[in-house]
Amino acid sequence: MYLLVFLHFLQSLLMAVHSCPASCACTYGSSGIAELRLVQCSDPGISAVPVNVPADTVKLRLEKTLISRMPRAAFYNLSELRYLWLTYNTITSIHPSSFVNLKALRELRLDGNLLTSFPWEGLRDMPRLQTLGLHNNRLSSLPAHAALFLPNITFLDLSSNRLTILPAELLDLWFPLPGQQGVSVQRRILGLHDNPWLCDCQISMLMSLSSSLGSPVVLMDQMLMCSRSLGQAGMLLTKAELPRCMRPSVQPAATRVMSPLGSNVILRCDATGYPTPTLTWIKTSTYTGCCQQGLFENSEELPKILESFMQESPRVGVRWSIISLNGLSYKDAGEYRCQARNMAGISEAPIKLKVMGITRLSRPLKKKVQKTPSKSLSKFKKPKQTLVISKSPPVLENNILTNIPPPFNNKTKRDSNLLSKVVQVYQVDKHVSQRKMNSANTKKKNQTLIKSVSEAPDNPTGALLSAALV
Ligand SMILES: *[C@@H]1O[C@H](CO)[C@@H](O)[C@H](O)[C@H]1NC(C)=O
Ligand SMILES: *[C@@H]1O[C@H](CO)[C@@H](O)[C@H](O)[C@H]1NC(C)=O
Repeated sequence: MYLLVFLHFLQSLLMAVHSCPASCACTYGSSGIAELRLVQCSDPGISAVPVNVPADTVKLRLEKTLISRMPRAAFYNLSELRYLWLTYNTITSIHPSSFVNLKALRELRLDGNLLTSFPWEGLRDMPRLQTLGLHNNRLSSLPAHAALFLPNITFLDLSSNRLTILPAELLDLWFPLPGQQGVSVQRRILGLHDNPWLCDCQISMLMSLSSSLGSPVVLMDQMLMCSRSLGQAGMLLTKAELPRCMRPSVQPAATRVMSPLGSNVILRCDATGYPTPTLTWIKTSTYTGCCQQGLFENSEELPKILESFMQESPRVGVRWSIISLNGLSYKDAGEYRCQARNMAGISEAPIKLKVMGITRLSRPLKKKVQKTPSKSLSKFKKPKQTLVISKSPPVLENNILTNIPPPFNNKTKRDSNLLSKVVQVYQVDKHVSQRKMNSANTKKKNQTLIKSVSEAPDNPTGALLSAALV
C-alpha cells in the first residue's frame, strides 16, 4: 500500500518535472558542458505566468503575451533559473517579492513593457543578477535607494524611458570616489539614452566621468539629450555644461589647536562647492605623545564619525559645521578630519588637537618639553608660550578631572556659552593640507590656531585648573 502511494508520488513528480505548460515549447539546449532546459512561451493568449514550468528550467522566455502583472513568488519553483526574459508583454506592475527564490538568476530582461516603476528592493532576492534590462518602459523616476540594490549589476539598460533625474547616489556607486574606503571599482555598461534628462549637474558629471580615460562605465549610447533645462531644451550634452558642478573646498577655522585639560573646545569647518557639500567629522587618530600609554586602554575604535554640534547651510553652495568637546581629557587629543563631499568630489582637512597638562609656571621641565611635542607641532615655531606640558599629571588629578560631569548639561545654555568661548587666536599657519583633487579656489590661506581658555566662574573644571595653578 505505502509502496503504491510512493510510486504514485514518484510518478507525479516525474510528470511534473518533465511536463511542459500548454502553449509553451520545452527544449534542451547545449551549453557545451550540459544539456540545459529552455522553456519558451509566446502565445498571445497567455495572461498569467504558467504554473507548471519544469523545475530544472535554466532559461525561461515569456514573450509577447497578455501578462500584465507579476504576482508574488511567481517563479518560486525555478531555483535553477539563470535567464528570465519577460520582454514585450504588457506588464504594468511587479510585486516586490515576484522574484523570490531566484537564487541562480544572472539575467532579467523586462524590455518593452509598460512599467512605470520597478521594485528595486526585489533585487535582493537575486544576489547573482548581473544583467537587468528595462529598456523601453515608462519609468519616470529612479529613486536614490535603487543604488543600494544595484552594486552587482554590471549591465543596466534604462534607455527609452521617461527618466529626468539621475540620483547622486547612483553616480557615487558607478564612479566611486578615490576617498571611499572598501569600494572596489566595478566595470559596467549602462544604457541611459533616450530619456528626457534634466540638464543638471548629475547628468553632466556622468557625461564627463564616463568619457574620461579609464572610466569604469561605458555608455551604450553617448548621445544623451537634455530635454528640460533653463532655455536649453533639446541641447546635446557637452562638456560646456560642466562648470556648474564644483568640487568641495574645505577650510577649517584652525588646523592646530591646543587646549588645557578640562577646558571646552569647539572646532569649526567651512566648505564650499556645488551642489552644496555635506560635512562629516571624523576622528582619525589619538595623539599618544602627551602622556602614559595606559590612559588609552579601552579607548574607542578609530576612525570614528562624530556628530556635529551645529551645522548650517546659509546659502546654496556653502555649509559650515562645528563639533564641541567639553571637559577635555587626554583621550580627546588627536587628529580630527573635516570631510566635505558632493557628487563632484571629496576634500578634507585635518585638525590636530593637543591637550595640555596641568600648568606649572615655576619650573618648566625643559627636557620633557623637547621630547614630547609631536613632529607636526615641532615644525613651526610657537610664539611665546606660557603653558608647558607637565611631565605626567598625578593620577589623582586626572581622576578628579575625568569624573567631573560636563560643565553644561542644558543644551540651550551650551549654545550661547560655547560660541562665545572661542578666544585668543594667536597663531598663523599657512600650510593647508588638502587633497589634490580639491579645487584650486582656496583663497583663505591663513589658518589660525585657536587656544581655548576655560572660564572659571561657571566651569568647575576650569575652577579646578585655576586652583591647581595657585
Ligand atoms: C510549485 O510547485 C508546486 C508543487 O509542484 C505547485 O503546487 C505550485 O503551483 C508551483 N508553483 C508555481 C508558482 O509554479
Ligand atoms: C552582491 O553579490 C554578493 C556576492 O555574490 C552577495 O552576497 C550580495 O547579496 C549581492 N548584493 C545584492 C544587492 O544583490
